[in-house]
Amino acid sequence: MPGAFYITTAIDYPNDLPHLGTAYEKITADVIARWHRLTGKSVHFLMGNDEHSVKVAQRAEKEGLTPLEWCNRMETGFRERWAALDISFDDFIRTSEERHKKGVVALIKGVREANPDDIFLGDYEGLYCTGCEEFKLEKNLVDGLCPQHPNRKPEKLKEKNQFFRLTKYRDALLKHIEEHPEFVQPEARRNEVVNVLKGGLEDLSISRPVAKALGWGIPFPGDPERVVYVWFDALTNYITGVGFGSDDALFGTWWPADLHIVGKDITRFHCIIWPAMLMAAGIALPKTVFGHGWILSPEGGKIGKSLGNVVEPLEVARLLGPDALRLYLIREIVYGQDGEFTVSRFEDRYNADLANNYGNLVSRTVSMAAKYRNGVVTEPAGVPPRLKDAAAGAVDRAKQAYDALALHDGAGAAFALLTQANELIATSEPWNIAKDPARAGELDRVLYDLVEATRIATLLLVPVMPRKTLEILNRLGDTAKPTLARAAWGAAGSTLTTTGGDPLFPRIEDPAKAKEAKPAKPAKTK
Ligand code: MSP
Repeated sequence: MPGAFYITTAIDYPNDLPHLGTAYEKITADVIARWHRLTGKSVHFLMGNDEHSVKVAQRAEKEGLTPLEWCNRMETGFRERWAALDISFDDFIRTSEERHKKGVVALIKGVREANPDDIFLGDYEGLYCTGCEEFKLEKNLVDGLCPQHPNRKPEKLKEKNQFFRLTKYRDALLKHIEEHPEFVQPEARRNEVVNVLKGGLEDLSISRPVAKALGWGIPFPGDPERVVYVWFDALTNYITGVGFGSDDALFGTWWPADLHIVGKDITRFHCIIWPAMLMAAGIALPKTVFGHGWILSPEGGKIGKSLGNVVEPLEVARLLGPDALRLYLIREIVYGQDGEFTVSRFEDRYNADLANNYGNLVSRTVSMAAKYRNGVVTEPAGVPPRLKDAAAGAVDRAKQAYDALALHDGAGAAFALLTQANELIATSEPWNIAKDPARAGELDRVLYDLVEATRIATLLLVPVMPRKTLEILNRLGDTAKPTLARAAWGAAGSTLTTTGGDPLFPRIEDPAKAKEAKPAKPAKTK
C-alpha cells in the first residue's frame, strides 16, 4: 500500500513485567511510528508478548497458575506500562492467540510445500540456555556459562527434534545483505551478521519435546510428540500479526514490514533465521532490521531481570513524566549504541533541556506576548524574519535524521532551534524594544519569530514528547492536529493567539527526589 509503514518491536517474554531496557525499545519504536504518522503515512505498529517460553511456564508454576493464567495477568501489566509511557501500538499480539497459532501452522505447511526437504527429523545433542531460549555452542560460553545469563547454567540436551535446513540459505542470505545493505542496520550489526554467515551455519532445531517444554507451546504440525521451538514460533508473529494464515487482505496490505526494531542480542535471529524461514516459504523479506543498543546500569551490566538491576519504568516516568523519560532516552543515546541510565543524570538533563531551555522559552515567550500584545502576535510586513532560516534548517535536519533512524539527532535538531530562540531573546532584549513605540514593528517581529520558531521546534518533538508538545502547541495558538506540513514557516497563520498556564517543566531543586526514585529492590528471577 503506497504511503504505508509497518513497524514492529521484539515481542517480550512475560516471565516478569517489563523493565527500563525493554521499555527503551518500545519508546524508540514509538518515536519512529509517530514520526511516520506525522509525515502523513498510514502506520501499523505491532508489539506483543512471546509467551511460549519455558521460563514463562516455570514462573507460572511457581505462582501456582497455569501458563495462560499467568500470561493473561502479565498482559494487563504490560499494557498498563505501555499506556503510561504513551506507546501508541496499533495491535498487540500474544503468541497463545488462535490467529498466531494458525499462522505458525500455515508457515510450516508453506515451507513443507515449497521445500519438502527443509524440515526433517534429526538428533540434537548440545547445550541450551533457557534465558536466551537458544541452542548454544561451547565456543560461545564463558567458563561454561552463557555471558548474558550467568545465573542460569546451560542445560545439556540430547533429544530428537524437527530441524530446519538453515545451512541451505547461507549464500542467499549473504547475497541479500550485499544487495540490500539497508537490510541490517546499523553497520556494526551488519558486520556481525555477515561474520556469522561467513563463519558457517548449522541446521536449526525447531522443536522441543512436549515434556521438556513443560507442555507449553504450539503442537508441531504432524508431530504430536513435539511443540514448535519458541524462536521459530515467536519470529512468525511479524506475519501472523498482520493476518498471515487468517486474513489475506490484511497481510497484503502490510507485508513486507518496513522495519523490525530489536535489541542487538537478537539481531542474528532476525537477520539469519527469520529471513531464511521466509525464503523457505517463498514469502517476501522485511525491508530493514535495526538492532539497537542496550541500556546499561551504572555498574556496567545490561539492565535485565536476570541481573537484578531492574529499573521500574513506571516509577521513573512517574517522577518527571513520560515525556521527560522519552526525551532522555532518545536524546542521550545515539540510536544503535549502548547508553546508560541513572536517575541523577536524568534529573540533570531534565533541568537543562526541559526546565531551563524549553520550558523557560515557552513561558517567557508567552508572557511577553501577553504583556506587550495581549497574547496576540502578528507577523509584521517589511521587517525581515530573524529565525525563519534557522527553522527551515531544523526541519530539514530533523527530517533527514528521523528518516535515517538517527533519532537523537532528530530531537537534537529541534533543541538547536529552541536554543537559537532563547538566544534571540537574550540578544534582542524585547523589554528594551518595548520601551520605544517607534520600534513596534521590530517588537512584533521578535515576538512572532519566537512563537513561530518554538511552534516549529515543538512539532518536530511531537514524536518524542507526545503529551507536552500538544499542550505547548495549544499555548502557542496552534490547535490543529500536528502534521509535518504545519512545520513550514507561517503554516499556522500570520496571527497566533497565545495563552499562559502553569509551569510546564518545573525545575527540580530538591536532590532528595533522586533518592525517592532509586530503583526498587533487585528483582529475583528472570
Ligand atoms: N522474546 C524474545 C524476542 C522475540 S522477537 C520475535 C526476547 N524477549 S526479551 O523480553 O528478552 O527482550 C525483548 C527485547 O528487549 C529484545 O529486543 C531485547 O534486546 C530488548 N532488551 C532487553 N533488555 C534490554 C536492555 N537492557 N536494553 C535495551 N534493550 C533490551 O528477546
